[in-house]
Parts: sequence; structure tokens; C-alpha cells
Amino acid sequence: MRVGLVGWRGMVGSVLMGRMQQERDFDLVDPVFFTTSQVGGKGPAIGKDVPPLKDAKSIDDLKRMDAVISCQGGDYTGEIYPKLRAAGWNGYWIDAASALRMAPDSVIILDPVNLDVIRDALGRGVKNYIGGNCTVSLMLMALGGLFQRGLVEWMTAMTYQAASGAGAQNMRELLKQMGAAHASVKPLLDDPASAILDIDRKLADTMRSSGFPTEHFGVPLAGSLIPWIDKDLGNGQSREEWKGMAETNKILGREANPIPVDGVCVRVGAMRCHSQALTIKLTQDVPLDEIRMMLATANDWVKVIPNEREESMRELTPTAVTGTLSVPIGRLRKLPMGGQYLAAFTVGDQLLWGAAEPLRRMLRILLE
Ligand code: HSE
Repeated sequence: MRVGLVGWRGMVGSVLMGRMQQERDFDLVDPVFFTTSQVGGKGPAIGKDVPPLKDAKSIDDLKRMDAVISCQGGDYTGEIYPKLRAAGWNGYWIDAASALRMAPDSVIILDPVNLDVIRDALGRGVKNYIGGNCTVSLMLMALGGLFQRGLVEWMTAMTYQAASGAGAQNMRELLKQMGAAHASVKPLLDDPASAILDIDRKLADTMRSSGFPTEHFGVPLAGSLIPWIDKDLGNGQSREEWKGMAETNKILGREANPIPVDGVCVRVGAMRCHSQALTIKLTQDVPLDEIRMMLATANDWVKVIPNEREESMRELTPTAVTGTLSVPIGRLRKLPMGGQYLAAFTVGDQLLWGAAEPLRRMLRILLE
């Protein structure tokens, strides 16, 4: 199978490349690397010979691929994908961008949760397989055991989303903000006799000053938070919040009978792990030990963390999870509203299960 890779040098693309090498995916395909800037250049070192870099805008070169995996972003998809299909190409389009996600002839891929939906689509000749929104994918990796059994009547997700979801430049800016914040109060901090309220006042002045680095986020994130992610839909909801219900139900293949999902999406100063506090109305009063068992056995990556202080603090954090495929879920308890009301908290790496991992796994499914 000839597989074209586009956008493999960006942040999601680099994570994808790393995972494909770890899992030796390149042994099974003939990879062809595309570029928007260095046509004819040398391909990446992946342990086997690859042809010189091809032009990512060349429909003729793309047309020769059996599958294309794009991490190049939505603008590229919007420009190139329609031309490629118009030229008669009938290959598999696997994409991290959201551009084609909700299209009727696309499936959102998250195979540990919706392999049945993917297989059904393959059987019907569907050719477009699109990665989901990171927050939605991570929530479903954690809660698959309840959704698969039809136990969720509705759900709210209050999110704590990392800088990486906004892009590589935003991760850098978060660190610059941390540095600027610290530098502005360092002399006071170094003096044990200084008053904490003086430090706090100086810090607030710094963070509100025009010199504070906010080019990418628009406002301070370090030492603060941003209660809005993505576009304003004009109905009080952000586009990130809208995706919660739209994508969850599309992934589960139940658009005709959707489960209500909504919440407030918030950016916090974590680097690349999204966290979510979930409130779930169950369709029945299922005992907690059964819930824990259903969650823990739903896939190989979810990990149920006992609802205890030490373990929650140690294992249920962005710092513990970053760079891993593990999706811990904890803080599980019934709420005082009744036996059908469940609280939970989950964390996941936004670049792995949230972006790159479902793409390479889709390629594996095509190779079966
Ligand atoms: N929209 C998400 C975020 C990342 O901004 O965190 C992409 O799924």
C-alpha cells in the first residue's frame, strides 16, 4: 500500500511519526512523504529508503497514493481534498483536521470505541476517516464502558484543556508567560521577609501590563485561565462545546438518537494533557463497583484510579499522564442528587489519543 504523508513535520505530525516508528508501521507500507516547502528534498530517516519529498499540492502525485494521511491542517484539506476527488481519486483520506469531520461521507475514527462503526463504513465503501476532537476522543476513551452499554442518559463535561490544543506556538507562549511572571517577582520571592500580598500585587501588574507575552492566546494563561475555546457560535456556546455532543454521537453512530452532551470548555496552563470533570446521568442506578469494572475493561488504555486522595493526586494529573497513552479516570462517586448521578474526572494526552494515535491505527485497520 502506497501511503502519502502530509504535515508530518508539525506537532501532531511529529507525534504521529514517532508512534509509527515505535510500532513499525512503516515496515508494512510504502511511505511517500509530501512537503509544501522542500519539494525534491530528502525524506525523513525512518529506517528504510523513501523517495525524495513530493509536492503536497500536486494532485498528480497525490493521486498515485492508496491512502493519504494528513496532519497539515484544515486549510490544506479544504484546498486539496476536493481537487483530489474531482480528479477521480478513490483512495483513503485519513485526516487529523476537523474540516471533513462532520461530512455525511466521513467517519470519525476512534477504534477502541467505535470499531464497529468503522468496519460498517468500510463495508459500505466509505473512504474518509477523520480524527475526532481531542477532548471528545479522550472523554470517550475514558467512558467507553458506559456509552457502549447505553448507560449514559446525558452528560456534562467541564474541561481543563492544555495549551497544545491551541498549537505549538501557544505552548511556547505559556512557558514565556510563566518565565515573565516569575522574573517580575524574583527579587521579592528570594527575600524571605517580603510580604506575599506585595508579591501578588506586583505579579498582577505584570500580567496585566502590555509587555506580558500574549500574542497567541490574546490574554494571560499562566497564573490565570481562559473560559473560551475556539469560535463563538453566537448562541452562547463555543465551537469546542458544540463539538462535544455533535462528535460524541457521530463517533458512536447514533446521530439519529443523540445523547445530550454539553459543558464549559476552559483553557488552563497545562502543556499537552486535557482534563475533564464529568457529570453523568445514568439510565439506571448501577452500583459503583460495577461501573468501575465496566470502565476498566472497555479498552487497554483506560485506567480506573481509586477515589482516594493520594492516588488521585499522584495519578490523575497532566504531569503524570503526559507523553503516555494511558487514560486514567477517577474521582468516581455517586452525587447526592441520586443513584443515577455519577461524578468522574479524567486526563489524557491531547497529542496521542487526542490526535495522532487514531490515525495510525486506522492505517492498521486498512492493512488487515
Ligand atoms: N480544539 C482543541 C483545543 C484541540 O483547542 O484544545 C483540537 O481538538
